[in-house]
Amino acid sequence: MFNLSVALLSLAIFAAAAPPRLATCSGGRTTAHAACCKWFDVMDDIQANLFDGGECGEEMHESLRLTFHDAIGFSPALFRQGKFGGGGADGSIMHHADIETVFHANNGIDGIVEVQRPFAIKHGVSFGDFIQFAGAVGMSNCPGAPRLEFLAGRANFSLPSPDLLVPEPSDSVTSIIARMGDAGFSPAEIVDLLASHSTAAQDHVDPTIPGHPFDSTPGQFDSNFFIETLLKGDVIPGNGINVGEAMSPLQGEVRLQSDALLARDPRTACEWQSLITDQARLQSRFRAAMAKLATLGQVRSLLTDCSDVIPVPAALKKTPTLPAGKTMADIEAACKATPFPSLSADPGPPTSVAPVPPS
Ligand code: HEM
Ligand SMILES: *[C@@H]1O[C@H](CO)[C@@H](O)[C@H](O)[C@H]1NC(C)=O
Repeated sequence: MFNLSVALLSLAIFAAAAPPRLATCSGGRTTAHAACCKWFDVMDDIQANLFDGGECGEEMHESLRLTFHDAIGFSPALFRQGKFGGGGADGSIMHHADIETVFHANNGIDGIVEVQRPFAIKHGVSFGDFIQFAGAVGMSNCPGAPRLEFLAGRANFSLPSPDLLVPEPSDSVTSIIARMGDAGFSPAEIVDLLASHSTAAQDHVDPTIPGHPFDSTPGQFDSNFFIETLLKGDVIPGNGINVGEAMSPLQGEVRLQSDALLARDPRTACEWQSLITDQARLQSRFRAAMAKLATLGQVRSLLTDCSDVIPVPAALKKTPTLPAGKTMADIEAACKATPFPSLSADPGPPTSVAPVPPS
C-alpha cells in the first residue's frame, strides 16, 4: 500500500513536471496538436498576401465582418418551426456566395468572399474554418486586441443560410436583441461583439464616402468606438443621413443608427459604458463572445483547439481619452446605474478622421 502510494505520488509529480508535448511545425514553431501545423502555413500566406504584411487595415476589417455574416446565419427559432435555420459558422456564405452575398444585409461582402476563397482552396482547408481563422489572425494585427480562440475542423459542407438573419443598421434595438437572442447572445454579448466596430469602416451605408470608419482609430482595437458613439452627433457626413445612419460626432466618421441606439438603450447602455476604461474586460468579453460566434452550429468537442497558432497582439500604447475638441459635456451618458468615467481630451485642433485606405 505504501509503495503504491509512493508510486502514484511520483507519477503525479512527474506528470505535473513533464513539459507538455508539443508538435514542431514549419519554421520551428510549436503547437499542442500536430493537426494544427498546417495553419502556420496558412497564416504565413494570408499575413503576406491577404493582410498586406500583417496590417489591421481594410482586408482585416472585411475579414472580421465576414466571420459574423457567415456565423449569424443560424436560427434555432426557424428549426423549431420545422424550417432549415442555417448552419452557423459553416462557410455557407462562401460555398453559396451566389445566394447569400445578394442578401441585402450582406451588401459588399462578395469582395472579401472572392478574395479569400482561393486561399482556402489552395491550402485544402474548409471554407468554414478558413473564414474564422482569417478573422482571428487578422484581429491579431490590431494593437489592443485579445488573442482570439481558433478551433479547426468544421466540415466543408453547408446548405445556404436563409435570408433575413443578419441584423441591419436600420433595425430597432428590440429586433436586434430578438435576432441575436435567437442565435444565443444576451444583450450584453451583443455589445461585446460590437467591439468589432472599433476596427471597422463603412462602404455602402453612404457609398459616396467609402472607408469612413466608426471610430477615430480603425487600426486599433480600443474603446474609442464606445466613447465616440456616446458623443452628441452634429456632423452629417457624405451625402446626408442615409438609411441605417445617424449623425456623427467627428468629421470623417460615420455612425450607424444601430450603434447609436444600442449605446443609449437601457438594456445595453451599462455594458457599453463598462467597456470604456477597462481594456482587460473589453478584451476578455470580446474574446468570449467571438468564441461563441465562431462555433455557432458546430459541436465544440469535435473541433481541435489550434488557438496557439494565433499570434499574440501588441498592447495599446495609450489610455482612453476624448477626441481633441470635445469635453465631458458632449457625452450623452445613458447607464443609470454607474457614473460615466471621467476622461480628458486629446490636445490639439478638433479631431478629424482619415478614411481607411482601399487596398
Ligand atoms: C447589431 C449588429 C450589427 C449591425 C447592424 C452591423 C452593421 C454593419 C454595417 C452596416 C457595416 C458597414 C458595411 C459597409 O457599408 O461596408 C458594418 C461593418 C462592419 N461590421 Fe458590423 N454590424 C453588426 C455587428 C457586427 C459584428 C457582431 C461584427 C463582428 C464580430 C461586425 C463586424 C463588422 C466589421 C469588422 C465591419 C467593417 C467592415 C469593413 O471595414 O470593411 N459587425 N457593420
Ligand atoms: C471545399 O468545397 C469547395 C467547393 O464548394 C471546394 O472547391 C474545395 O476544394 C473544398 N475544400 C476541401 C478542403 O475539401
